[in-house]
Amino acid sequence: MNWESQLQKPLSPKDGTAGIERPRALAEQISEDPNPLLTLSNRHVVSARQFDRDTLTQLFRLAAQYESTPALMHLPLQGKILISAFYEPSTRTRLSFESAWHRLGGDIMSITDPKSTGMAKGESLADIAEMFNNYGDVIVLRNNQNDSVYEMLDALRIPIVNAGNGIDEHPTQAMADLYTIFKWHPNLLDTSLAEAERIRIGIIGVPGRMRTVRSLLILLSKFASAISEVVIISDEDQPFSEGQETELLAAGLSIRVARSLNTELPALDVVYINAIAWVGDSFEAMGSELRLSQRSPLKPDAIILHPLARGEELSTDLDNTPHNWYFAQARGAVFIRMALLTCIVRRISEVMDTP
Ligand code: CP
Repeated sequence: MNWESQLQKPLSPKDGTAGIERPRALAEQISEDPNPLLTLSNRHVVSARQFDRDTLTQLFRLAAQYESTPALMHLPLQGKILISAFYEPSTRTRLSFESAWHRLGGDIMSITDPKSTGMAKGESLADIAEMFNNYGDVIVLRNNQNDSVYEMLDALRIPIVNAGNGIDEHPTQAMADLYTIFKWHPNLLDTSLAEAERIRIGIIGVPGRMRTVRSLLILLSKFASAISEVVIISDEDQPFSEGQETELLAAGLSIRVARSLNTELPALDVVYINAIAWVGDSFEAMGSELRLSQRSPLKPDAIILHPLARGEELSTDLDNTPHNWYFAQARGAVFIRMALLTCIVRRISEVMDTP
C-alpha cells in the first residue's frame, strides 16, 4: 500500500450512504408521537419481542433526528453513568453504545474482560447485578450465556440492555438493521404498500443459532406489510429453533427456506449475511458455499447488510459498490442506540422540551 499518497488526500466519507439527507427523509416520513417512547422510561431491554411497531417507528424517527440534526445533541444524559459490561469480545456493539452515551453527555464505566472482575472468582450474576445497582444508572451487558441477562433481572433496580446473550438475542443490533433498511427506503413504513412495492429479503444464516438473525426476524415480523417474502438461505435441514418458524408465520411474515444462494440472489432486494454464530464459547462458521462477492448475481440495486465482524463470506471487493450498506448499518447503530438510551434513562418529553 502506498501510504504516503494516502496522507496527501483530505479525509471524506467514503460512500453515498453517509450524510444527513437519508435520515432527514426518514424523520420526515414519520409523524411524531412521543407516547410509545414514554413506555420505555426506566425499562429493561432484553428481547426484540418487547417492541411493537409504533415504538420502533418512533425510535427510528428519534434516531434519524439525532443523525440528521446534530444540534439536538444537548447532552440529556449529563451526570448519568453507563456500566458497559462486555464479558465477550465486541467491536461495534460496545463502541457504538459508548459513542452514543458519550454523545449524549454521560459518563461510562467499562468492563471489557471478565478476568478483571469478581466473575473470575466465581461471583454470581445476581451479586454482580446488586453491585451494579449502586454504581450506575443503566447497564449494557454482553455475555456468552443465554441465561445471563435473565439471571440478573431479579436483583436489578436499574435498567439493563441486552447487547447479545449467547445464541439467544441481540435486539439493538436488529434495531440498527431495520433503521438502515428504512433509511434506504422510508416508504417501506407505509402500511398499505402494494405487493409490487414490497421487498424480498434474503437472510444467509441460521435463525435457530444466531442471535442477530433471531432478533432481526422478530423485528421484521412487526413490519410484515413491507415484505413480500423472507428467504432463509441455509445448508441446514432444520435451521429454526423449536416454535420459531411457527411464531414468525403467525406474526404475518411470509418465510421460506432455500439452499442455493445464487439461485435466490437475482430476486432479493436486501441480502443479510451473517457468517459466524456464537455457539457456547466458540464461533461457528457458515457453509463454504455461502459467500458474496462482485461476481455474485445480485440485483443491481440490492443492498447488503452484515452485522460484522466480517469473515471470508463477504468479499472486500463489494466495499466500494452501491451494494455496501453494511458500513452504514454499523454507523447508524450509534444513533439508534442514542435514541433508545435517551428513552430509557430520561423521559422523552423532558428531552423534547429542552431547547
Ligand atoms: N454486530 C456485533 O454484535 O458486532 P460486535 O460483536 O463487534 O459487537
